[in-house]
Amino acid sequence: MRVEQIPVGPMQNFSYLVWDEGTGEGVAIDSGWEVESILEAAKRANVKVKYAIATHRHFDHAKTIRELADSLGAKVVAHERSEVPADVRVKDGEVLEVGGARVKVIYTPGHTEDSICLVEGKNLFTGDTLFIGNCGRTDLPGGSPEKLFHSLQDVILSLPGDLMVYPGHDYGEVKHRRLGEERKTNPTLLAKTLREFTGVG
Ligand SMILES: [Fe+2]
Repeated sequence: MRVEQIPVGPMQNFSYLVWDEGTGEGVAIDSGWEVESILEAAKRANVKVKYAIATHRHFDHAKTIRELADSLGAKVVAHERSEVPADVRVKDGEVLEVGGARVKVIYTPGHTEDSICLVEGKNLFTGDTLFIGNCGRTDLPGGSPEKLFHSLQDVILSLPGDLMVYPGHDYGEVKHRRLGEERKTNPTLLAKTLREFTGVG
């Protein structure tokens, strides 16, 4: 699958367009601030967007997801516990079939109660669960340091190191990096205890 990382809005957000070149079918991930640049990218690459997926409910990721989906003839996807009005509600382990590819949902609460990550081939879309060199905040409503620590240590770190991490914000020294590199350098992944984690997270 091809991945286009699209910078959007004033809070250094990334939206993503992910598509299968064979069939032209794809997904859009997050669309908080603006839909124009995502629509343009989809048009440019001639992508038929099947799903517009919100990684979590925060406005800078989900505010315009309905508008984006309607403009593209796509369905809105969010976690079953999300407040985002979705056409398709997903839970951990569910797979969205797109073209010849499979987009797998991984439930990773902690930044919010409805946070999900998505794995497609060698790509890992982490929303605000994991950034390059950091992780998402846990001090906003619905946030939980305990849950995020568990999501990072037991869920994200159990994934293969060759997955490319595509975060929900451009907060790192690079825009994407392999999970194996993050595992060695990201203090929030290196923390071995919850106490250590809350000191760096
Ligand atoms: Fe967020």
